Amino acid sequence: MTAQHFSEEIEQQIDRLLKEMTIQEKLGQMNQLSADNMEVNYNLIRRGMAGSVLSITDPAVANKAQQIAMEESRMGIPIIIGRDVIHGFKTIFPIPLGQAASFDPDIVEEAARAAAVEASEVGIRWTFAPMVDITRDPRWGRVAESPGEDPFLASRMAVAMVKGFQGKDLSNPTSLAASAKHFAGYGAAEGGRDYNSTYIPERQMRNLYLKPFEAAVKEAGLATIMSAFHANDGIPATGDKHLLKSILREEWGFDGFVVSDWASVDEMVVHGYSQNRSQAANQAIEAGIDMEMVSGTFVEHGEKLVRQGSLSMEDLNNAVRNILRVKFRLGLFENPYVEEDRDSKFYHTEHLALAKKAAEESFVLLKNQEETLPLKNIKTLAVFGPLSDAPHEQLGTWVFDGEKDYTITPLDALKTMYGEEVEILHHPVLKFSRDKDTTSFVKMRKLAAAADAIVVFLGEESILSGEAHSLSNLRLQGAQTKMLKELAALNKPLVSVFLAGRPLEIEKEVELSDAVIYAWHPGTMGGPAIADVLFGKSGPSGKLPMTFPKNVGQIPIYYSHENTGRPATDNEMLIDEIPVEASQTSLGNRSFYLDSGHEPLFPFGYGLTYTTFEYGRIELLEDVLQRDGILKVGVTLKNTGKAMATEVVQLYTRDLYASVIRPVKELKDFKRITLGPGEQTVVHFELNIRSLAFWNRDMEEVVEPGEYELWLGGSSDTTEKVSFQVK
Ligand code: BGC
Repeated sequence: MTAQHFSEEIEQQIDRLLKEMTIQEKLGQMNQLSADNMEVNYNLIRRGMAGSVLSITDPAVANKAQQIAMEESRMGIPIIIGRDVIHGFKTIFPIPLGQAASFDPDIVEEAARAAAVEASEVGIRWTFAPMVDITRDPRWGRVAESPGEDPFLASRMAVAMVKGFQGKDLSNPTSLAASAKHFAGYGAAEGGRDYNSTYIPERQMRNLYLKPFEAAVKEAGLATIMSAFHANDGIPATGDKHLLKSILREEWGFDGFVVSDWASVDEMVVHGYSQNRSQAANQAIEAGIDMEMVSGTFVEHGEKLVRQGSLSMEDLNNAVRNILRVKFRLGLFENPYVEEDRDSKFYHTEHLALAKKAAEESFVLLKNQEETLPLKNIKTLAVFGPLSDAPHEQLGTWVFDGEKDYTITPLDALKTMYGEEVEILHHPVLKFSRDKDTTSFVKMRKLAAAADAIVVFLGEESILSGEAHSLSNLRLQGAQTKMLKELAALNKPLVSVFLAGRPLEIEKEVELSDAVIYAWHPGTMGGPAIADVLFGKSGPSGKLPMTFPKNVGQIPIYYSHENTGRPATDNEMLIDEIPVEASQTSLGNRSFYLDSGHEPLFPFGYGLTYTTFEYGRIELLEDVLQRDGILKVGVTLKNTGKAMATEVVQLYTRDLYASVIRPVKELKDFKRITLGPGEQTVVHFELNIRSLAFWNRDMEEVVEPGEYELWLGGSSDTTEKVSFQVK
């Protein structure tokens, strides 16, 4: 249980502090400094002008800052030290999008716990994670940090990460306050260009983008929230009172604090929302921002605004109260210092083992023609590609503390783990993913000629995804596709392993390869995880957390769309089949692209394993249910292949008609099931009918009576379904 309980005692302590604090000291608590110049910071902390410092990573510095706050500032209030610990601190886990592909909240929670244990060792007690922006546009570089396109999966990931970071009790010195971000709707940035405007109507905001935040608040006792950079329908998220007060505080009862994003208060001036920094401060505080990240407008203008009467003392007190509440819950007043000689858990064996397992579970097998994988009967293996031995590039975005010297690359791992059984020939061919120089192709062909099979590591370097790293072209960079074409022409078993921060456009590359694994940016232990999966010591079990488009022009494309009145039928005539001078209506009037149809390359939830699974008929216990009922449903799952493997069984529903149109499919639950060859089991689900609720025409969250469909299967394009009714 991680929900943070209301404590009368804490509130009384806060009251006492608030009574004694000057306006400027209150504004100081609402001010977050960056750690760039600690000498200046020490002075500000001493004067009560800072409530938090971001990115201190030296325990001695953390303790010195804390000692000044506790002993030399008038109020003796501890600071809270924050940092972007996004997918690991020293031990780097797969990027969050990869973690989402595991569909395994348990391992995601464990990974966040390990990250918290490592980060807290240097005095960090607050992380700016989880990022839970739902996103349906792989051009946006920040998809790497996100849980993908689906609100249910994102909610499970959000809850798991918050629980992992915050631990069972926030006051434990290894617990970090989590910060769900970026509130809200940032993932819908127009055109996938970072920081861009969004146009999300209230209903979609609530049915989709707010879901993981709400789950983190209500199910995991989330300690803090970060407001987003962008503006939705003309209102910057950092000045959006409706989101920050009406929904977050009043509807959800959130009692932690809200931090702005980096200078997002000041940036309201650039947006053209605030006339100047003073008005930006006023608007942000009034909207419900409690702490300002780095732009300093609160301390600069707050006192004047209060004295003028344009900012209420009540708003100020509430903000400080929210911040102090989290500091009390973290135990910072009693225990502000970090133990400088604590036994180090950096790269602890257990964390490395966990990072390897998390990476294995994140891999998605996209193709496996004629059981090319796992590799067998091979004497000589050729290993190529710019990401085969690139320790920095497999770590992914948002890695400030994990060191590449601790990274084990696929090449390292293949040599040390399988080098005795198999001769490994290697050349990177291209020096980095954008490299266009094909000089090494000659060498590559020579090595390939001597090999029984080829594994090639393609994709994108870490720097190509993440914040502000949007792309308009998702094809492989540099000469990578050329390289693959040359290798495919050799007619040897060819395995492509993609390391990337986003779904790339890989239709051609999939065609050229016999087998394809999508490994995301897999982190410190990516190499050993890949080696074991290639040789079948473990099997891939990941499923796609985002739809893979055939090409950029299909974006946005996602499984949970609404039906048009004229959906595509699968019989559409595509561009090369159209007769010359065809008449206007002869193609039919349907919703699809003439040149790429209506299907993506791979749908959400898709992923193969080293075995085959057969689903039996779906058994529904009752098919008429009350709105507060529980639907019990099961399906027989049989492993019909030769390997032990894990299947992610996914439950989808559709509300066939409603007061507002509902998506054609919505994920409502999933389970990871491991079965040996020939083994079978009945997989049971209990679906609370309340989870079918949505925001209706009158903007109320309700389950509407009517007819529904339910699917159980191994991907969002599964077709086996049953019907039920809700009374
Ligand atoms: C990002 C946040 C991050 C913050 C602090 C911003 O640029 O948008 O996600 O937490 O910087 O580093």
